Amino acid sequence: MPTRSPTINVMAAAALKAARGLLRDFGEVEQLQVSVKGPADFVSTADLKAERTLKHELGRARPGYAMLFEEGGSTPGADPRHRWIVDPLDGTTNFLHGIPHFSISIALERDGEIVAGVVYDPTRNEMFAAEKGTGAYLNDRRLRVSARRKMDEAVIATGIPGRRGPAHEIHLATLASVSLATAGIRRFGSAALDLAYVAAGRYDGFWEFALSPWDIAAGLLLVREAGGYVSDLAGGHGMMESGDILAANDHLHLPLAVLLKDAVRGHAAA
Ligand code: IPD
Ligand code: CA
Ligand code: CA
Repeated sequence: MPTRSPTINVMAAAALKAARGLLRDFGEVEQLQVSVKGPADFVSTADLKAERTLKHELGRARPGYAMLFEEGGSTPGADPRHRWIVDPLDGTTNFLHGIPHFSISIALERDGEIVAGVVYDPTRNEMFAAEKGTGAYLNDRRLRVSARRKMDEAVIATGIPGRRGPAHEIHLATLASVSLATAGIRRFGSAALDLAYVAAGRYDGFWEFALSPWDIAAGLLLVREAGGYVSDLAGGHGMMESGDILAANDHLHLPLAVLLKDAVRGHAAA
């Protein structure tokens, strides 16, 4: 950002501090891959440590704001208008496996609306940031969603549910439709970064079901501020409640929404 606002400065500084710890721990995890015990306990400690750092830094800079953190749940604040919504480590499975693709996601909600968002990728040092009405940035560069119009040229990201069950089956139905209609699907494993990549024009779209508020709060503002569209599966704005999300550039959002809807309907009828 050319001149970052005080709010974005606070968020970015907190992310950078937590990222230093995560990167140190990630180095350890790479070593632990070959050990018999494996790195699982170590990773959950790394996750909790990052959450502690973020809570401390954000709380110090803005005392009284309410908080919703993935691990620690929600904490009320003296200032009920403001709330931090934070995922200290998005892409835990990648982190656990030594795959360098994970992020820290911090959003600020004011009166129920997301007004600022930061998604930071520590391994690439990419800071995605947006504030309502002022655009989205990657480090100092202004972001714009892709201009791609043709579905068969589009690259679309998604997340596949990890457990057998109805959600998994419905997702497979949508996956079949979207993969046949587009140039390719990516499943990189961090929903926050998936949304940041849509904002950056790297992906032309992204959809996933049943996400949590901390996975999407910052990313959805990034996409909007980069000129993209974000909706739930019904085309409404209940993403934070349902966790179902479709984000895309302005040309592809509607055709993708129709594809997904038809796939879900077809699955229900089968
Ligand atoms: C997960 C990641 C992943 C998505 C999952 C999320 P976590 O978050 O965002 O891409 O597919 O649904 O739960 O567990 O790594 O914080
Ligand atoms: Ca997450
Ligand atoms: Ca997480």
